[in-house]
Amino acid sequence: MKKLLIGSLLVTFTAIPAIAATAFSDGKDAIEYRQNAFQLIRHNTGDIGDMLQGKVKFDQARLQRRVDALVGLSTLPWEGFTVEGANKAFGDAKAEIWTDNADFLSKAEKLQTAAKALQAAAQTADQAKIKAAFMDFRGNCKACHEKFKAD
Ligand code: HEC
Repeated sequence: MKKLLIGSLLVTFTAIPAIAATAFSDGKDAIEYRQNAFQLIRHNTGDIGDMLQGKVKFDQARLQRRVDALVGLSTLPWEGFTVEGANKAFGDAKAEIWTDNADFLSKAEKLQTAAKALQAAAQTADQAKIKAAFMDFRGNCKACHEKFKAD
């Protein structure tokens, strides 16, 4: 009985690939998604920077929360560059993203790797290690923006 039910659910899901293929209703939706993801990355990155510079009180648990968020957030924007209607130069997204896509994706990958390294450093609670890993993580923003973001 259970098997039968799962079987019929699978049929239902595979029968609607147009909806299942993307989380976005159109290109504009995908652009919003990636820009919102970048904004969340900015908030979490900025707060870590403020803590490390002493602008706000250092708090290990808060740092950990920011870093854990960044590990997930840094995986998000890229899908929003792939769908129809969101895959050409628009706003701050330069045409090079698609004409030199391998380099773009490699820079996106580096951000994700650096986020994981920052997470590992945060777990040591050693501020020198955290600072070094944060500088490395932070460097990825400029490295990509210089080539792929309009301003
Ligand atoms: C692999 C490339 C890449 C990396 C790495 C990257 N960005 Fe971006 N970022 C972009 C592109 C491209 C845009 C423009 C997106 C658009 O307008 O659709 C952008 C846009 C933004 C925006 C503006 C979003 C909006 O509301 O329009 C912010 C803020 C931002 N990035 C912050 C960051 C921060 C902080 C980092 C590093 C921790 C970072 N980005 C790393 C490519 C990147």
